[in-house]
Amino acid sequence: MKNRIVIVFISFVLISCSYSTSKDIIKTQSPSKNIEVSFQLLNDGTPTYSVKFNKNSIIDTSKLGFDFKGLSSIKNNFTIVDVQNSSFSESWEMPWGETKEVENNYNEIIVTLQNAEIEISEFQIHFKIYDDGIGFRYEFPKQNDFDSIIILDENTEINLTGNHTCWWIPGDWDIYEHLYSKTNFVNIDALSKANHGSLAQTYIPENAVNTPVTMRTSDGVHLSFHEANLTNYPGMTLKIDKDNLLMSSELVGSDRLGYKAKLKLPFNTPWRTIQIANKATELIDSKLIVNLNEPNKLGDISWFKPTKYMGIWWEMHVGKSQWSYTNNGKPHGMHGATTENAKAFIDFASENEIGGLLVEGWNTGWEHWIGFEEREGVFDFITSYPDYDLEEVVRYGREKGVEIIMHHETSAAPRTYEQQLDTAYALMKRLGIHSVKTGYVGKIIPKGEYHHGQWMVNHYRKVLETAAKYEVAINAHEPIKATGIRRTYPNAISREGLRGQEFNAWASDGGNPPNHLPTVAFTRMLAGPIDFTPGVFNIKLKPYKDENQINTTLAQQLALYVVIYSPIQMACDLIENYENQPAFQFISDVGVDWEKSITLNGEVGEFVTIARKEKTSGNWFVGSITNEDPRNITIDFSFLDSDKKYKTTIYQDGKNAHWDNNPTDIEIRKMKITKNSKVDFHLAAGGGLAISLIAIE
Ligand code: NOJ
Ligand code: CA
Repeated sequence: MKNRIVIVFISFVLISCSYSTSKDIIKTQSPSKNIEVSFQLLNDGTPTYSVKFNKNSIIDTSKLGFDFKGLSSIKNNFTIVDVQNSSFSESWEMPWGETKEVENNYNEIIVTLQNAEIEISEFQIHFKIYDDGIGFRYEFPKQNDFDSIIILDENTEINLTGNHTCWWIPGDWDIYEHLYSKTNFVNIDALSKANHGSLAQTYIPENAVNTPVTMRTSDGVHLSFHEANLTNYPGMTLKIDKDNLLMSSELVGSDRLGYKAKLKLPFNTPWRTIQIANKATELIDSKLIVNLNEPNKLGDISWFKPTKYMGIWWEMHVGKSQWSYTNNGKPHGMHGATTENAKAFIDFASENEIGGLLVEGWNTGWEHWIGFEEREGVFDFITSYPDYDLEEVVRYGREKGVEIIMHHETSAAPRTYEQQLDTAYALMKRLGIHSVKTGYVGKIIPKGEYHHGQWMVNHYRKVLETAAKYEVAINAHEPIKATGIRRTYPNAISREGLRGQEFNAWASDGGNPPNHLPTVAFTRMLAGPIDFTPGVFNIKLKPYKDENQINTTLAQQLALYVVIYSPIQMACDLIENYENQPAFQFISDVGVDWEKSITLNGEVGEFVTIARKEKTSGNWFVGSITNEDPRNITIDFSFLDSDKKYKTTIYQDGKNAHWDNNPTDIEIRKMKITKNSKVDFHLAAGGGLAISLIAIE
């Protein structure tokens, strides 16, 4: 990865013109001056910040602070002892991503504060101000001979300017797999069972939300709050103070250790981020989160190739087969991961432009998985069940151009996994397997740790770093949230961290409603790639699951390959459901690695349309999805390249399509589309639209 242009201007207090100070106020603007951050000490020396967007207040005066164990809090009586100001501009290249080139332009300010009366007597607040939002973090220098400090809480406030419309999930310390609620800020009630399903892992100690949380003001400004570069620190939830229209950081803790974080000085917190946009669509196109991360540390990762993949997977979720091999010590005959089944998938994948095959349930341990308290030492990431010949499957796949994707379900026993990391990845390296799907189902062992706490953040990082040494990329399920680490560790290719497709197979609450994905696109997707696993054609799940179904049309399942970004995209359905289906052509054709992406239209929770240009071929693909409301959209194709002609296929909801009554009614037709075309399309209730524009000279 190379930086094309790097221009850095540094100037010091009072010389620069991009901020101004009165006695205690320091103002800094974004490059185009649409966003302005003010840092100010209150009369009692409390550090605060506030934000304006297009000259209007968007974040009111918000306090900054910390509580430590055995040391005075960072609260007030501070003075400003130094202010540094600079500008930065670069364009960097993503090895894989939604876009090849990323513009990274910001103005920054670092304010050094001192309070000689307390032990942690000095720290800095570092703001980076972009045209699409801001990031700020605390930076603690080495001081006063403290070896390490224990954080009881971070007290960062976000003081809202109104009772905004919010799309939120509860601030669960253990799982993000919740449906989004849409309420006004004062109606956020994360503790009410009505707002979250009964997930075994759920632990929600406060009325708090997880991030990204997205909001719309009464003026139509869109805001999304999250964090970037979550490293050696707990994940942050945001506690809701309805009376004061205020959110404050509530870090995920460790009940085992009795604190939120333990850190050695010097250290920096993650960036606290606020994406700010005039329109909902601009949130999706924002690159703030990756820009706030450090450049690629891994160098060349061309051993990872973005790919579509199939899996011995959906069949377990619908109950056609099982992960385990035995029941009461005897083979039950329902084991999915057999050599024969894997070869059948490899044959189909290879004939249909699909480069990967995930095989779950291949290794020993599944007999002792869900529902067991004691899960240390159960899973083995080396030993196959007797009916699965790993080496033969890998060999056959290679012969047919299909790479096996490894699967490591840890059952939330990370210490057992850490003991085996090197041997498991060495096996993969020897076999030429370059990616693994990991999983952390269940309560974390040891007890008192949570998926989103500092201890687990460090575990997930150790996995990424160790995997990189063996040229292995990670797709984590039950992960820590994405915070743009993929820029620094591009082997962090995808993750779950939301209610994925699998909920439609077995959730007792009716599955993901049609508004789920049009909400996810403007919330969870702002954090990074999603392994949602689209592509169910047998929408009613017959004959396996009479009680369940997918709550979209077939055309929407196709559209998801474009709308929901990931460099690995599953075609998750069973082979028999894809055979002789003309709509499958879209999945064969669609790209997974993009030169550029443009969000054409959309509103949070309602609909969204995205166009993406494939890197190598120059082909364009368009995906559009809607919630339970049918709607008409107009697509202006002026984004197409003027020097190219396109062979265009439209995959559209049929006239009578409806997510519930008639989900598989699809119309597939060719059409002449050029850069000058503007075309109206109809989306059915819960429907979608997928378009392939194959470039011809
Ligand atoms: C949960 C994951 O989300 C799912 O995709 C996987 O099949 C199971 N765990 C088993 O690891
Ligand atoms: Ca999951």
